Amino acid sequence: MSFRTKFLIWFNFTILFIIGFFSFGMYFGAMHSMEEGINNRLLSVSVATSHIITKPPDDFAISCGNKEFQELLEAFLGFTGHEGYVRVVSKDGKSLSCTRTILNPPVPLTKRDLDVLRSKNYFFRDIHLEDVSESGIRICFYPLFYESNFLGYLEVGASLEKIQKMKKSLIYLFAIIIPITFFISNLGGFFIFNRGLQSIIFLSRELKNFTAHELYKRVPVPNSKDEIRELFESINTMMASLEKSFEQIRQFSADASHELRTPLTIIKGEIEVALRSERTVEEYQDTLVSILEEIDRMSRIVEDLLLIAKADAKEVIIEKKRIKLNNILNELCEQLSIFAEAKNVELHYDNLPEVEINADPLRLRQVFTNIIENAIKYNVNNGKVFVSIEEDEHNYIVKVKDTGIGIRKEDIGKIFDRFYRADKSRKREIGGAGLGLSICKWIIESHGGYIKVESEYGKGSTFSIYLPKLIV
Ligand SMILES: Nc1ncnc2c1ncn2[C@@H]1O[C@H](COP(=O)(O)OP(=O)(O)OP(=O)(O)O)[C@@H](O)[C@H]1O
Ligand SMILES: [Mg+2]
Repeated sequence: MSFRTKFLIWFNFTILFIIGFFSFGMYFGAMHSMEEGINNRLLSVSVATSHIITKPPDDFAISCGNKEFQELLEAFLGFTGHEGYVRVVSKDGKSLSCTRTILNPPVPLTKRDLDVLRSKNYFFRDIHLEDVSESGIRICFYPLFYESNFLGYLEVGASLEKIQKMKKSLIYLFAIIIPITFFISNLGGFFIFNRGLQSIIFLSRELKNFTAHELYKRVPVPNSKDEIRELFESINTMMASLEKSFEQIRQFSADASHELRTPLTIIKGEIEVALRSERTVEEYQDTLVSILEEIDRMSRIVEDLLLIAKADAKEVIIEKKRIKLNNILNELCEQLSIFAEAKNVELHYDNLPEVEINADPLRLRQVFTNIIENAIKYNVNNGKVFVSIEEDEHNYIVKVKDTGIGIRKEDIGKIFDRFYRADKSRKREIGGAGLGLSICKWIIESHGGYIKVESEYGKGSTFSIYLPKLIV
């Protein structure tokens, strides 16, 4: 079943239900208040009449039968024509007096009815006599007592014509209003639904034509300011983010294969040269050392790539524990000072204050190794590197300041990108794959911290790593 059919079925069902509910409500409400109105009228006439005519039993029959009394009654009650009548009936069922109206003789009552009246209760009854009134008559039977003597009862009747007319008019009204309302609401619903559906059909056709190579395309957003427009805009936003992700993946694969191809080409070249003619043992050893270096390089890249892939898939677990930040930095700097010496760079890390934080020691070592290594690698001859720990209200800040080559302003924002190297033409021995800082950033952020860089090209850089303090 199509969505349109489902919608129309439900829509019609709901509309019918609502209209039906309101029509029935109105009908029964109106009927109820009219019935109540007529009952109250009959009862008040009965009570008023009973007050005028209640007399001692002997007087009662005479005065009720008398003509002046009848006229008085008519004048007092104001009944005329077929609208209603009042009859006084004796306890043995004889009509004693009656206004000049409709019903003759008195309505026969059963013994049970009389018992009700004798027990001082009144009741209503509808009667339908074709020769009297088509619509029927409602009668109130009201007991008449003088002190505790049952004198008879009143038969106060009124025509139900008005109620019947009202019933008919309401039915006619509904017969006109229900189909019109149903038609108009259906037309409106269908129009609105069709407009939305057309947009969705259009959207679905557009999206079907998109392929992974056409993520730059966007669907034309309709002018209306409604949910349909929002849907189109969301799809365009999604397309833009997909396009960006695809581009990043494409770039990443291209960079990764490029980084891996370089050492492979070198290894291949070294082996081919070695095989071209007979070599001495030293020459073979040199070739093998060079090949080993390239393999080391490749395994580092592969390891970094694996870590990045796992981090993206949220598969890397950060195992935090209480650690002394100064101890880690001291150990690391001690190890890296050999590398610094080889590069003719002075590494200063004295008087680091004792500081405890909650962190994963292995991952944090990875961060500091890369940043201190960078400060040494991208330094000048006789350059300096200073490692220090400072603090602000919420964080401990590890600062790695160097007097090295610095970073150009336009590069600062990019150095945390994967495979980004500011100086692409530098020697292979110096640079890595350009993955270090992107991994550092991710590790620091996973610890709830952040990293900042200040640099002046040609003068040096300062990397500040903010790590949250322990909450005591
Ligand atoms: N202290 C620094 N001084 C000058 N340039 C720097 C410094 N640290 C990083 N850079 C620049 O930022 C780039 C990215 O650094 P990153 O650590 O991510 O990569 P890498 O050191 O080249 O390679 P990897 O760390 O993967 O071995 C570097 O190639 C370098 O151009
Ligand atoms: Mg690095």
